[in-house]
Amino acid sequence: MKTLITGGAGFIGSAIVPQLKEDGYEIFVLDNLSFGNRDFIDIPDSHFFLADIRDIVKVNGIITQLKPDIVVHLAAIHFIPYCNQHPFEAADINIRGTMNILNACTGLPSLTKIFFASTAAVYPISDFAVSENHELLPLDIYGLSKLTGEHLFKKFWLETGIDTIVCRFFNAFGPNETNPHLIPEIETQLKGGLRTIKLGNLTPKRDFIHTYDMASAVSKLLKLKKANYDIFNLGRGIEYSVVEIVEAFERQLNEKIEIEVDPARVRKVERQHLLADVSKLKKATGWQPVHSIDEGIKDMVNSWTR
Ligand SMILES: NC(=O)c1ccc[n+]([C@@H]2O[C@H](COP(=O)([O-])OP(=O)(O)OC[C@H]3O[C@@H](n4cnc5c(N)ncnc54)[C@H](O)[C@@H]3O)[C@@H](O)[C@H]2O)c1
Repeated sequence: MKTLITGGAGFIGSAIVPQLKEDGYEIFVLDNLSFGNRDFIDIPDSHFFLADIRDIVKVNGIITQLKPDIVVHLAAIHFIPYCNQHPFEAADINIRGTMNILNACTGLPSLTKIFFASTAAVYPISDFAVSENHELLPLDIYGLSKLTGEHLFKKFWLETGIDTIVCRFFNAFGPNETNPHLIPEIETQLKGGLRTIKLGNLTPKRDFIHTYDMASAVSKLLKLKKANYDIFNLGRGIEYSVVEIVEAFERQLNEKIEIEVDPARVRKVERQHLLADVSKLKKATGWQPVHSIDEGIKDMVNSWTR
C-alpha cells in the first residue's frame, strides 16, 4: 500500500513513519522541511518529496504521479504562539494547503483512505474530559484553521465516498520535538544545567500523549474497515499540570528543580484543562497507550548523556 504522509518529517511524523513502515506500508513523505528534519526519517530520497503544500501545481504533480492508496495529512503550522503571530501564514498553510491536498486527491482512483491530523484546539475551554461530540469553539486562529480543515475533509468524503478519518490530537511529547512546547522548553533549560527554570502559567493541565502511542493509534485507525467519515480524539486520557511535569523531571534527575514564573511567558488566554475522552478510539480499535510520562522523560534525560 503506497502511503503518502504530508508533514511526515516533523515531530509526530517521525514516530508515525517507522510505525507504518513496520506495518508494511510503502511510505512516501511530502514536506517542505520548514519545521521538520530530513534526518528524522529513514526513507530513500526517491520516497521523499521536498514540496510546499501551498504549491498547487507541485502537489498535484506529485500526488497524481504517485497514485497513493492512503494519504495521511499532517503538514501544518501548529505552534499556537507562532500561529498567533503569523495568522495569515497559518491560515494559508492549514486551509489553502489542505485544500490543495484534497483537490489533488479528488478523483484519484487509487485512493482508499485519507487521514487528517486535527487538534484538541477545536474545543472550547472545558473543565472535564471532552468527547468527540462536544461543542466546537476554537479560541485561536490555529484551532479555527484546523476546524476548517475538518469541514474540508467532510466535504471531501461527501463528494468522493472515500473513507475519511479525522483525528484530534491532544498534546504530544516524545523525541524529535520541533517546537518550543512545555516539555522541550523544560528540557532545554535543564539540559543547559539550570536547576531554577523560568516558565509561564503553572496551573494549566494538559493531556500529554507519547508520539509512539499516537503512532500506534494512527496505525490502528488506518486498519478500520468502512470508516466512512469519522472523528476520534487521540490523547492519553490523563492530565498533568506544569508542576507535575517538572516533578517527573525531578524524579528522573533525582534533583530539586525550582520554578520561577517569567511574566513574559505567561499567556493571557489560557485553558486550565485540556483532557481527552478517548473511549471511542479504544472501543473502535482496541488501542491502549503504553508509554507513561515518566518513561518518556526518562528517555529524554538518558539521551542527554548519550
Ligand atoms: N504536537 C502536538 O502536540 C499536536 C497537537 C495537535 C495537533 N497536532 C497536529 O499534528 C500534525 C503534526 O504536528 P507536529 O507536532 O509533528 O508538528 P511539526 O511542525 O513537527 O510537523 C509539521 C510538519 O509539516 C511540515 N510543513 C509545515 N508547513 C508545510 C508546508 N507549507 N508544506 C509542506 N510541509 C509543511 C513541517 O516541515 C513539519 O515537518 C500537525 O497537523 C499539527 O497541527 C500536533
